[in-house]
Amino acid sequence: MADTFSISEEHGLAAIPENSKLIYSVGVSTAGAAELRMADGHPERHIIATTIDEAGVQHVTERVQASGNSGQLEIKLEDVGKPLPYPENHFDYIYARLVLHYLPKQDLPAAVAELKRVLKPGGKLFVVVRSDKTPDAVRDTSTFDPATGLTDYIDPYTHKVPVHKKRMFHSQGGISQFLSDAGFAIERATSYEERLFGDFNRTIQAEHFDNLVEVLAVKPVA
Ligand SMILES: C[S@@+](CC[C@H](N)C(=O)[O-])C[C@H]1O[C@@H](n2cnc3c(N)ncnc32)[C@H](O)[C@@H]1O
Repeated sequence: MADTFSISEEHGLAAIPENSKLIYSVGVSTAGAAELRMADGHPERHIIATTIDEAGVQHVTERVQASGNSGQLEIKLEDVGKPLPYPENHFDYIYARLVLHYLPKQDLPAAVAELKRVLKPGGKLFVVVRSDKTPDAVRDTSTFDPATGLTDYIDPYTHKVPVHKKRMFHSQGGISQFLSDAGFAIERATSYEERLFGDFNRTIQAEHFDNLVEVLAVKPVA
């Protein structure tokens, strides 16, 4: 049985401010593990969790229903690369672990600006992306597209068969700059290694450690 502990998930949960009532999680997966923990023991919190993956929505919805926490968690089909259907200054906290790296560099500024728009002043945005230090950035099969910033690569390890993937691998300074350019203040930025999972239920853990960049950003109070 794989160890399901995740350093970046622990950091993202620990960063939730004490008085948060409305939390937005973009790119939910791993069976809603983090989101169920956000709700657990915090009846005052409401969590909206989204993904563009229909199977993910269904899977997480079933998990949430089975947990008995449906009243606190809303799972929605939504694209973080598109305008978001929420008013300004709506959420207390935004959790974006391993999702913004799917966006090409030309779509990221608008997406980050939308996240800032829907976050309350003083609210925090937690971001984790794959780092440009990852071996996946420089495999023989990896090709970098300068027009999009995306790298096309074959992941030979995480799944039972090699899987074709596409990500924007970020430097710590690079992703921090995207957030600063959108008007966020950077509370902390750090890079570290973590073993990731290849499936929703965290049963397939990569044999190797991966390189991640984590940034905690704050929407300034005007
Ligand atoms: C690697 S999983 C990580 C998810 C989760 N935040 C976690 O920490 O385990 C990425 C998820 O983001 C979703 N995703 C990819 N592109 C997206 C987009 N543009 N908008 C919303 N979700 C997206 C994928 O379908 C998948 O469910």
